[in-house]
Amino acid sequence: MAEFALPKNSKVEAGKTWSSAGGGGNVKRFQVYRWDPDDGRNPRLDSYAVDLDKCGPMVLDALIKIKNEIDPTLTFRRSCREGVCGSCAMNIDGTNTLACTSFIAEIKGDAKIYPLPHQPVIKDLVPDQSHFFAQYRTIEPWLKTDSPAPERERLQAPEDRAKLDGLYECILCACCSTSCPSYWWNADRYLGPAILLQAYRWLVDSRDEAIGERLDALEDPFRLYRCHTIMNCTRTCPKSLNPAKAIAEIKKMMVARRG
Ligand code: SF4
Ligand code: SF4
Ligand code: FES
Repeated sequence: MAEFALPKNSKVEAGKTWSSAGGGGNVKRFQVYRWDPDDGRNPRLDSYAVDLDKCGPMVLDALIKIKNEIDPTLTFRRSCREGVCGSCAMNIDGTNTLACTSFIAEIKGDAKIYPLPHQPVIKDLVPDQSHFFAQYRTIEPWLKTDSPAPERERLQAPEDRAKLDGLYECILCACCSTSCPSYWWNADRYLGPAILLQAYRWLVDSRDEAIGERLDALEDPFRLYRCHTIMNCTRTCPKSLNPAKAIAEIKKMMVARRG
């Protein structure tokens, strides 16, 4: 019988167990994925004890405390710490989400923290998002117009502006795309839910004059049609957006223009 196993150097091994900085009674363990491209070792799970009485309430607070007080080599991205930059996206307790808006108190038992799945890892919790942002560039995410520019701004009626609600809030964190099975297996050609939601954001912008061109660019068996409505994307979005619906709306636009 055929045996399937991960390549030897990709198995996650047990790592170091670190004790709590300063001790304390209200301790929670954080098991954190570690991988350093320079040490030649396999990835490992290091275990850190954090005194929650001396830590902020969010998972990002715990990671910052670990880095500042226990292990300065731990590497992760963060910037805004309030859910608007998208840089602290990671897999927390089995879900792709933002560390800065995830409450530690909502995690039962040890907190298990991994980088976003199915993206190459640069180091520890930092994924390489070059391909993701290259795909974003392909949808030309800017206003395209042929008509002469007005003297002041291009106006938009309130009801047209409202069509952008649920779309403009996307922070390109990639939580949705990296939870999508179709994207895992076809990321080379399928654009994935985040980029397609962004594509739809421009398709419904009443000021944009390149709808035909934008739809032509998506009319492809892979770029758009690899979505099989599995809905992982919508379930995981930390901004409560609905990329699966945006994809369905693009498909409807495709059908409408054929008719
Ligand atoms: S749709 Fe949601 S999960 Fe996807 S990139 Fe945008 S904010 Fe992140
Ligand atoms: S609905 Fe489409 S984009 Fe969302 S997870 Fe499923 S296949 Fe991926
Ligand atoms: S640090 Fe900006 S979204 Fe979390």
